[in-house]
Amino acid sequence: MFKKLVLIGGAAIYTGTVLWGVTKYRKAKTTLKGENNVLYIKNSKPRPVSEEFCHLLPTLYSEQECCIITTPIFYANGDPHIGHAYTSIMADVMARCQSLDDKTVLYVTGMDEHGLKIKQAATKNKRTVQAQCDYVSQQFCDIVKTSECSPTTFIRTTEERHCNVVQAIWTRLAKDGFIKKKIYSGYYSVSDEDVVNKRKTIVINGKRVTKDSRQPVETFQEENYVFSLLGVKNGESLKDLVIKWLKLKSPIKPEVLENQSSLSYCEQILRELQKNDLDEWSISRLRSNNGWGIQVPGDSTQTIHVWFDALCSYLTATGYLNEPHVWPPDIQVIGKDILKFHSILWPAILLALGLDLPKQIFVHGHWLVEDVNQNNPNKRKKWIKMSKSTGTAVTLQRSNTANDGHFLKMKGIAGVPDELSVTVCSSTLRYFLLRSREKNDNHFQYERLVDLHNTELVNKLCNLLSRCTSEKINPTEEFPKFSRKKLTEVGYLQKHLKELGVLKSVVAKKFAEFQYSKGIDAILCAITSADSIITSKKPWTLEATQREKIVSICLETCRIAAILLQPIIPNISSQILDILGIKEKKRKWRNAILQEEAPRRVLKKNKKPLLKRMKIQKGKEKGLANFEYAGKDLLQMDAFCFLVPSSQDLPVLGVVFDTFSFPQVSEESYGKT
Ligand code: MSP
Repeated sequence: MFKKLVLIGGAAIYTGTVLWGVTKYRKAKTTLKGENNVLYIKNSKPRPVSEEFCHLLPTLYSEQECCIITTPIFYANGDPHIGHAYTSIMADVMARCQSLDDKTVLYVTGMDEHGLKIKQAATKNKRTVQAQCDYVSQQFCDIVKTSECSPTTFIRTTEERHCNVVQAIWTRLAKDGFIKKKIYSGYYSVSDEDVVNKRKTIVINGKRVTKDSRQPVETFQEENYVFSLLGVKNGESLKDLVIKWLKLKSPIKPEVLENQSSLSYCEQILRELQKNDLDEWSISRLRSNNGWGIQVPGDSTQTIHVWFDALCSYLTATGYLNEPHVWPPDIQVIGKDILKFHSILWPAILLALGLDLPKQIFVHGHWLVEDVNQNNPNKRKKWIKMSKSTGTAVTLQRSNTANDGHFLKMKGIAGVPDELSVTVCSSTLRYFLLRSREKNDNHFQYERLVDLHNTELVNKLCNLLSRCTSEKINPTEEFPKFSRKKLTEVGYLQKHLKELGVLKSVVAKKFAEFQYSKGIDAILCAITSADSIITSKKPWTLEATQREKIVSICLETCRIAAILLQPIIPNISSQILDILGIKEKKRKWRNAILQEEAPRRVLKKNKKPLLKRMKIQKGKEKGLANFEYAGKDLLQMDAFCFLVPSSQDLPVLGVVFDTFSFPQVSEESYGKT
C-alpha cells in the first residue's frame, strides 16, 4: 500500500514527488500540511535512522519509476573544497532537471570514512578517528546544504547498515568463488588508497610516486584477499563482460576530455584492461596495518579495503538487502581520477552479484590551481590539481556571518600568490562552476567568478528583471495581460518570440547532454535580445498599450529564463519566479514555453536586490591598510570579500562589493556609459 504524505520545507525536498527520510516521515505524519511536496511511502514501517539529514534512507520509494543519481562518497580526511562542490553541484543539477520533469529522484551522496588516510588525518588533528569522521561529515553536510544541493540520501560508511551490506556482499562473492587469499605485493598510495604496480609509478626527486596522481607510494607485501576479474559468471569471465559493457553500451560520458588525450575514456580503460595487471584487485589489508575499516567476515586478521567498502555504499544507499531495492543508477557522477575504480572494479562486482550495471557514468575534469610553490616566479604558470593532500585547495565552509543559509566562505589559493578569504553566495558559486568547460580541466580563478557574477548574473539576468519592473517602464508594477497572438502582430518582436519559442527545447537538450554552459548561453542570448528591445524601443517614451507589450514580452523572457535556470541557481530563480507571481506548480520544464494567454497580475515587491555587484580593486601600496572599503555599504553587505596578502611585500588586491540597487542605471543613459 502506498501512503501519501504532505511535507513542508527541508533542504532535501523538491517540489513534486520526493523521497525523504524516516525522521521527516514521522514528523510529517503528525505535524505537516501543504500542497506541493508530496511523498509516497511504500513501506509503512521504515527502519529507524539516527540523524535528520545525514542518515536519510531510501526505504521510501515512489510508485513511479525512480531516477538514481549518485556522487562519489567523499573522504573524511579534510574540509570540502571546490572540486568536491563541483561533483555535488553537477549531480544536483542532474537531479533537479529530472525533478522539473516530474520524475522521482533518488540523489545519493555521502562520506567515505574508512581507510588509512582517515586514520592518519585523525592522528594529525589529534582526534579519535570517529571524531574526525563526525567532524568532516558535518562540514560536508553543511556545504551540501549551503550550496543548495538536495540529496535524498546521505550515506556514511561507518553506519551499521552499511557494514552489514558490505559483509553480506563479501560473503556472497567469496561463496561464489570470486574472492581468494594470496600473497600480494605492490605499491600502495595512502593518498589515493590505491594499490598500483611498478609500471604505474615513477621516481621524482628521489621519491617514488604514482604516475597519475604524483602521490607518494610505499612498497608492501601481504597475504590479502583478491577479487579476480577472471572469475566466471554465466559462462563468461567478469573481464569479458566488463569489456562488452564498455563497448556495447558506451556508458562513459562525455566520451573524451577535450585537448587531453587522443583516446576516449573508454579506449583508455580498454587499453588498461588489455595489460592484464588489473585482473586481480587486492580488496583487503592486514588488520594490523589498518584496523579502521570493516572486518572481513570470518577473518579477524583482515580489513576490507576501503575502495571495495566505498563502492558498496551505492548499494547500501539504494536499499540493497531490502525489498524493494531501487536499482541500477541512471547517472553516476565522478571525477576523472576515480574512473578506473568505477569502470572496472565496480561493474565487475555488480556482474559477480548478478546486478544491473549503471546506465551512465558521467566523468568530469579537475579544478586546477596555480602552483605557487614554484621556485622561479617568472616561470610560465603551472597549474596543479586542487587537492587537500597537497595543501592546494580552495576550501569551502558555511558562512556564519550571513544568515540566509546561502553563503559560503572560500579560503585558499587564489591564482595569485595571495591567500583568498572570500564570502560568496551559493548562486554565484554554482553559476561559476557550471559555467566552466565540462569536458576539460578548469582553472580556478577568482577574478573569473567575480566577472561572471557581474556580467551575467547581475548585468544580464537581474538587470532585465530590474528594468522591466522599474517604475519608469512599468509604473503599475504588473505583469501585464499576456497574449501571444497580440504580440506576434508586432513586427519588431518576431525574432525574439521565435527565439523564446524554441528556448526550452534548446536548453533541455544541452542540459540532457550535460552541457550546462551551452544551455546557459542560450538563456543569456534570449535575455540579451529582450534587453535590446528595451534599449532600442525606449518603452518609457511609448503610450501604455505599446509599452505594456514590451514589458509583457520581457517579463515572459524572465519567467522562462528563471524556470530554465532553476537547476543551475535554484535560489535566485525561485526569487525571480516569486516576484513574477508564478505558482510552485507552474515552475516545471513543461511551463518553460511561451504562454498563449495569461491574465494581468500584480508583481511582488522585492525589497532587497537579488544580487549585489562585486568589484575587484587593485591597491597601489603595501599591506592590509590599503584596502579600500566601500564605506558603510561594506558593513551592510551580505557578501564581501578580500584577498589577504600572504606577504606584506606584495601589492594588495582588494575586492569590494558595492550595493546594487534596482534600477541601477537611468533608462536614458542605459548603454551609453
Ligand atoms: N572516496 C573516494 C570516492 C569513493 S566513491 C565510491 C574519493 N573521494 S575524494 O574525496 O577524494 O573525491 C570525491 C570526488 O571529488 C571525486 O569525484 C573527485 O574526482 C572529486 N574531486 C576531488 N578533487 C577534485 C578536483 N580538484 N577537481 C574536481 N573534482 C575533484 O575519491
